[in-house]
Amino acid sequence: MTDKKACLAPALPPGARRLLGAEDIRCAVNTLGLAIRDCYGQRELTVVVVLKGALVFTSDLIRQLDMPVRLRTVTARSYRGCATSPEELELNLSELGDLRDRDVLVIDDVLDTGRTMLALTTQLRTRSPGSLRTVVLLDKKSRREVALEADFVGMPIDDHFVVGYGLDHDGLYRNLPFIAALPNPEP
Ligand code: IMP
Ligand code: MG
Repeated sequence: MTDKKACLAPALPPGARRLLGAEDIRCAVNTLGLAIRDCYGQRELTVVVVLKGALVFTSDLIRQLDMPVRLRTVTARSYRGCATSPEELELNLSELGDLRDRDVLVIDDVLDTGRTMLALTTQLRTRSPGSLRTVVLLDKKSRREVALEADFVGMPIDDHFVVGYGLDHDGLYRNLPFIAALPNPEP
């Protein structure tokens, strides 16, 4: 079998520029793994992954953890062009299962306005977890519209729309092994 690895060059969106390379991401994920291990020790952890964007990040992050981990999923869609509109957020918690008294860690790809994470954590609290914390790979602090910070943050970024490493634009580019910023839309 021939080795085609060296040829892999996924298509970038037009006008996009590389913001974070695979090595930057790996470093951030390793550091997050250490912080989470410090926080929970060997306690069993119930990870809630916010699909689909956090899929790739979660698969790397949970492999940095050495406590017993259960994986649960929720789906969040925030029908957006370039701006998130709170009325259009749709959460599906049907696969979540029982969280009572569990140590719950919600994993999302990016904290933007904060509305998704606020709505989600508000719902999760009604299920009486023993503890509830949040982790995001990217934090666009300047875009925040609600009072919410993640407990664990990989990297702050400026106000760019980004794709790759699980993040999409119109369903595409989740498979990029790096993170790229799309050009700002025309005013
Ligand atoms: P928020 O509710 O505005 O904080 O938006 C959070 C959700 O919007 C994330 O879970 C992402 O799915 C999506 N999102 C926010 N910013 C970006 C981005 O730059 N690229 C891709 N998806 C994004
Ligand atoms: Mg999302």
